Amino acid sequence: MALIDVRNLAKTYRTGLFRKTSVVAVKGITFQVKEGTIAGFLGPNGSGKTTTIKMLLGLIAPTRGEVTMFGERLPSVGARARVGFLPENPYVYPYLTPRELVETSGRLSGLTGRELTQRTRESLERTGVLYAADREARRLSKGMLQRASLAAALVAGPELLILDEPMSGLDPVGRKEVRDLIVSEARAGRTIFFSTHILSDVESLCDEVVILRSGEVVESGHIHELLGGEVLRTDITLAEVSPDLHEALRTEGFVPEERLGHLVVRVTSDDAVREVLTRSLAAHARIVEVAPHRQTLEDVFMRTAR
Ligand SMILES: Nc1ncnc2c1ncn2[C@@H]1O[C@H](COP(=O)(O)OP(=O)(O)OP(=O)(O)O)[C@@H](O)[C@H]1O
Ligand SMILES: [Mg+2]
Repeated sequence: MALIDVRNLAKTYRTGLFRKTSVVAVKGITFQVKEGTIAGFLGPNGSGKTTTIKMLLGLIAPTRGEVTMFGERLPSVGARARVGFLPENPYVYPYLTPRELVETSGRLSGLTGRELTQRTRESLERTGVLYAADREARRLSKGMLQRASLAAALVAGPELLILDEPMSGLDPVGRKEVRDLIVSEARAGRTIFFSTHILSDVESLCDEVVILRSGEVVESGHIHELLGGEVLRTDITLAEVSPDLHEALRTEGFVPEERLGHLVVRVTSDDAVREVLTRSLAAHARIVEVAPHRQTLEDVFMRTAR
């Protein structure tokens, strides 16, 4: 079942004096996010990710189109209450502490008393800012603020998490922690929809991907279907190659390259892999590595960027 169902969603911003100039940010996009999945939302700067996310949260009104969330057509107070949200640039009142920020978020979601105190503590611990829970926001680093805001999104145990660039501003350890947190939320049955520019994070985390470009969806679907999985080429690295073998490979039309004292033969078919390996074994060369290369998300992203 689609937990988020976006249909022909569009947004044109009106700007300037008398709102005469307009910016078409999202041009009628359609995509779904299934319940229990981790979905990555990709696209170059200015492609409309934050605008779309703001419409999902009801922070700005769509110019046209509709969104259904938890089976309810937006705007819906009931659906909104089931969503935890991390904004792109969390604004936190400078004198507020992470504990106060998270407690406020919990209170808005209906938590009170001991449960509120307990859940606030747990959330701050999970995002790694408990040690700075009582420090004013103006004295926190960008990454610490990001963690505190993430704790605020998690505190009420929402069924759906919508995160706008959750890894931005975090150090490598912090990024890994957020990745682990996303996985553990998904294991607990939650649905996660997050935007990012870090393709490797999407590759390692996501089941589904939506790629935007200039306000339009250029790719969407299951990541394995998108990547295909077929081997594009294989690099065979050899050592102790006799002059005879080198010559034979050349004669057969292969183009071996010297690299760091080894010989690398790049081939594109299974038959060629077999041929190079058979000849190398017969000539007593050492096979250092056989490395297949598959299409990566970066390949797909670059293709859609053209
Ligand atoms: N409040 C606004 N008023 C006018 N134009 C806006 C406003 N917010 C965004 N835009 C424009 O809408 C387009 C999409 O912006 P958006 O912030 O949604 O992109 P994004 O994909 O989130 O980019 P990034 O990866 O840089 O965060 C851009 O052309 C941007 O200039
Ligand atoms: Mg953005």
